[in-house]
Amino acid sequence: MKHLIDIHDLSTTEIDELIEVAKDIIANPAKYSEKCHGKKLATLFFEPSTRTRLSFEAAMYELGGNVLSVSSAGSSSAAKGESVADTAKTVSCYADIIAMRHPKEGAPLVASMNASIPVINAGDGGHNHPTQTLADLLTIHCEKGRLDNLTIGFCGDLKFGRTVHSLIAAMSRYKNIKFVLVSPVELKVPSYVKRDVIKKNNIEYIQTTDLEAVMPELDILYMTRVQKERFFNEEDYLRLKDSYILTPEKLKNAKSDLSILHPLPRVNEIAVAIDDDPRACYFKQVYYGKIMRMSLILKALEVM
Ligand code: NCD
Repeated sequence: MKHLIDIHDLSTTEIDELIEVAKDIIANPAKYSEKCHGKKLATLFFEPSTRTRLSFEAAMYELGGNVLSVSSAGSSSAAKGESVADTAKTVSCYADIIAMRHPKEGAPLVASMNASIPVINAGDGGHNHPTQTLADLLTIHCEKGRLDNLTIGFCGDLKFGRTVHSLIAAMSRYKNIKFVLVSPVELKVPSYVKRDVIKKNNIEYIQTTDLEAVMPELDILYMTRVQKERFFNEEDYLRLKDSYILTPEKLKNAKSDLSILHPLPRVNEIAVAIDDDPRACYFKQVYYGKIMRMSLILKALEVM
């Protein structure tokens, strides 16, 4: 059975296939409208979400399937102390596939070890977010026509930002990738990501606190929100939350074909004035997220 817990669960060929199917879904949506008829997706979200949960649900509806949903920890038996393992066994009796978001790193992995249906990690704590990465990869592929030969700047909370960790892992497999890691000193990429992914794959990278200085080099700029919910004290969050605010002036020296991505939600990191700039891709990224989740559900349920 095929779970998706970490982006490494997918081979490069499988990612290419998911992108290919996604592009076909965009071109021929009617062909897919009944593919999941009679199937049920359970979205188990124990942390807040707008895009990830709704895009999973929209994806399943657009495939002709149905959805069962837990949209907060407080509304499920988790509030009574039920274990993730028991929840996974229970939901396996009701649904054909699970998408789970959880504040604890590793919870979707535990679910996958106990479920008898495929489990997809929809974000686990400050760890991983592989389906956001699939959305990011489709966005980059559509914008740039390639996933190799790119200089990618990550800016903001690189410590707690799970989307950053998963996208770094995914991009590390492609040729001639360079990472520019822009963050406050306190929010640098975790050492395990640097050691086990970036250095292990001999990826060229620089770490800096100065976004404007590196702007001219970037093909992709991946902005992120400072992850308030992962901080141990509010004082640190308040001090760091506005470390980077992308404004039109800061883009003065950027490439004319830069692609600006953001997994969203945006808090204050990108001025609204940038939304009309042709380089802003973050709302297209939302759309691609739904399409890539359709592609992933088809693969996980083996209904191609
Ligand atoms: C991200 C997440 O939940 O990690 N959001 C998303 O799923 N698109 C990013 C974030 O919350 O900052």
